[in-house]
Amino acid sequence: MILNSRPSHVAVLVHSVQRAAEYLRPFGFKIGPEEIWDGEGTKEIYVEREKANSLLLMEPIKPGAYQRALDKRGPGLHHLAIDVLNLEEDIASLARSGWLLHPTSLKTIAHSRTAYLARPGFPALIEVQEREKLGDEKFFVEHLSLQTEHSAGKLLQAIGLESMVATTSSSTELVLSGQRIMLQDLIA
Ligand SMILES: [Fe+2]
Repeated sequence: MILNSRPSHVAVLVHSVQRAAEYLRPFGFKIGPEEIWDGEGTKEIYVEREKANSLLLMEPIKPGAYQRALDKRGPGLHHLAIDVLNLEEDIASLARSGWLLHPTSLKTIAHSRTAYLARPGFPALIEVQEREKLGDEKFFVEHLSLQTEHSAGKLLQAIGLESMVATTSSSTELVLSGQRIMLQDLIA
């Protein structure tokens, strides 16, 4: 169990970041510029980036892991990111938690002090990034009701996401600065 973590961004894979951003615009959120990430093969837009745990919209623009994820599972939640202070120690503390270290982590730990956790049946990857300190900014993604098995609560607790993320048997929804958003509407 990770003792010290903090929610970072929530990443959603969509067919069009522009369309998703347009859906969010009437709510008055700060929509960042469109950025192209050639290495990842994605087009990305951060919503309320300067707040802790912003919303990240991602659109695949060439073949690669994100395009494969979109082809396989369709648009939806891609990863929940958390910040930690000691990557190796914190990952080691997850032994027997049910989380599995994604093989891509070998590369990403070396390049960017970032690891990925996965669990069959859990509807998102967990991105774990090492930071020198954990921020105390206000949350933008205040709450996430995640359509998944109730038993996933234990997995969320192990990574310190239990106060931000709850499991639900109905559709996944987000509370962004007090506004309730259905994930289905965002990715439509
Ligand atoms: Fe991310």
